[in-house]
Amino acid sequence: MKKLNIGLVGANGRMGREIADIISAHGGCDVSYSLSRDTKVNHEQAAKVDVWIDFSSPEALPEVLKIASRHKTPVVCGTTGFTKKEKTHLAKASKNIPVLWASNMSMGVAVLNEALKMFSSISNFDFQIEEFHHIRKKDKPSGTAITLQESLEKAVGKKCPEPLAIRGGGIFGVHKVHAMSEEEVITFEHSALNRTVFAKGAVTAALWLAKQKKPGLYQIRDVLFGK
Ligand SMILES: NC(=O)c1ccc[n+]([C@@H]2O[C@H](COP(=O)([O-])OP(=O)(O)OC[C@H]3O[C@@H](n4cnc5c(N)ncnc54)[C@H](OP(=O)(O)O)[C@@H]3O)[C@@H](O)[C@H]2O)c1
Repeated sequence: MKKLNIGLVGANGRMGREIADIISAHGGCDVSYSLSRDTKVNHEQAAKVDVWIDFSSPEALPEVLKIASRHKTPVVCGTTGFTKKEKTHLAKASKNIPVLWASNMSMGVAVLNEALKMFSSISNFDFQIEEFHHIRKKDKPSGTAITLQESLEKAVGKKCPEPLAIRGGGIFGVHKVHAMSEEEVITFEHSALNRTVFAKGAVTAALWLAKQKKPGLYQIRDVLFGK
């Protein structure tokens, strides 16, 4: 069977290196083309890419989407730290190609996001999200905390206090969602134990997105639960 050609953006970064390791261990796909900050795009090579995985920085996205749109190639993007305006590039490109963006590629966080819907039945509680990440993380609060906050506010039908962001040590990512009343507290918590969880999720998402025929804006939950 033909191996899937993956184009990797941000290949020299922490996540890029982890993703390359997962791909080389997989057997069903290869990194056929890598883009780093100083690469001049080779369109002959870009045309052979079946799906892109981008874990780089917000400024890379317009160029990545331009290349992918030109060759009608799906894009999985895990980059975080976008402004609202920058995020509109994803929606615009998704009219022509399949685009999957997730602030957190772990399947566990996808499940946590779904679980937050249950808080609609206790929407009178007070809510607070907390996140912990390694000291080198550039964006604050994390993209995951922002996504969880959006899901939470949608579920409970009200604004909740901003997520608390704590930076220290080498923490890969811990997210807690507290629901508090006068009588009880319930906390949903997800801990990423390593960076591999995001890399595995991104590769799973890429293999899935490559099979999607329709352009559109997909989410990591769609990989688990269907669109
Ligand atoms: N969705 C998820 O599950 C998830 C999980 C972890 C991290 N992330 C996000 O993924 C992104 C990368 O994280 P990381 O920890 O791997 O960061 P990193 O170690 O700083 O790596 C980013 C890589 O992207 C490259 N890059 C930056 N701008 C570029 C551009 N314009 N064109 C091409 N390459 C460019 C960087 O090159 P230089 O070294 O030359 O700058 C670097 O090699 C961040 O936004 C992070 O928050 C998402």
